[in-house]
Amino acid sequence: MGSTLKPAGKENRTFSDKVILVTGAASGIGAAICRKFAGAGAKIGLIDSDEKNVKDMEHSLLESGAEAFAVKCDVSVEEECNFAVAAIIGRFGGIDVLVNNAGITQRSTFRDTLSSVYRKVMEINFFGSLYCTKAAVESIIARKGMIIVIESMAGVTPLLGRFGYCASKHALHGLFTTLRTEIRKYGAHVMTVCPGFVKTNLQTRALGADGSITTHPQSTIGRQTTPESVAEEIYKAALKRKNMVVLTFMGKLGYWISRIAPIFYEKLMARQFRSELEKSRI
Ligand SMILES: NC(=O)c1ccc[n+]([C@@H]2O[C@H](COP(=O)([O-])OP(=O)(O)OC[C@H]3O[C@@H](n4cnc5c(N)ncnc54)[C@H](OP(=O)(O)O)[C@@H]3O)[C@@H](O)[C@H]2O)c1
Repeated sequence: MGSTLKPAGKENRTFSDKVILVTGAASGIGAAICRKFAGAGAKIGLIDSDEKNVKDMEHSLLESGAEAFAVKCDVSVEEECNFAVAAIIGRFGGIDVLVNNAGITQRSTFRDTLSSVYRKVMEINFFGSLYCTKAAVESIIARKGMIIVIESMAGVTPLLGRFGYCASKHALHGLFTTLRTEIRKYGAHVMTVCPGFVKTNLQTRALGADGSITTHPQSTIGRQTTPESVAEEIYKAALKRKNMVVLTFMGKLGYWISRIAPIFYEKLMARQFRSELEKSRI
């Protein structure tokens, strides 16, 4: 999916000794990315909002023989992002790859959902990535590195019931595909990643209409993949410096249907998710 940018240099074809900073590193896809790149010889900077979880993850990477350094950071707070990114640059000397992965989701009808829920989702998913990128971008440019953005199919297609999530991921798509056009001339790159449904803690912690964790079961399309298979695909695509990665057969199919026949896609998707949404009405 997407065209492949010519790598800026041969050094970008391996991640051995490169510094990879992963946000939301203590769980799910972020943790799997840390393990994958650490196994390939990268030095891993970890950011997560839960101090114990991120330190446990650091410990497990160190035990496996990798170099790792964790900093507790709530990505929705710009000062914390500045501090955490500076600490990781201080520890390893710079950043080659920033993986903007930290995120939360929400499941509820638009009419029921408080505006504060949308704001919270935007603050973590969108502004969290923006703050970390602003803090790391000079180092990434200096090293002709790359920014990997974990979007979602909801970043490039509509997704009923996840309005705030969808808005935050579309915003990320706009920001980062445009940033690519600014930093490309310096040899730096942006790769966006659109997974379908992945078996992680994301859905079990989804916010409901009033901002508390929702207990309503979720609908999915296709089989859920594992964080490990997502990390493997991201690793391979990062080696090739792809522009955009859409994961899984169902994801690719959905993406192309949404491009070729957008209204047909809207109807198909809405049929799949409508009953879940009705159950979540307050
Ligand atoms: N799972 C899917 O089906 C799926 C599909 C497409 C895209 N994605 C995207 O993949 C990314 C990772 O999600 P996941 O599925 O791996 O979910 P996950 O297991 O819930 O992991 C999300 C991580 O982000 C961290 N995080 C949340 N809020 C944060 C904050 N304010 N500051 C710092 N870290 C924060 C969480 O830390 P705490 O534990 O401390 O909250 C957690 O470690 C997200 O951007 C998500 O949108 C997931």
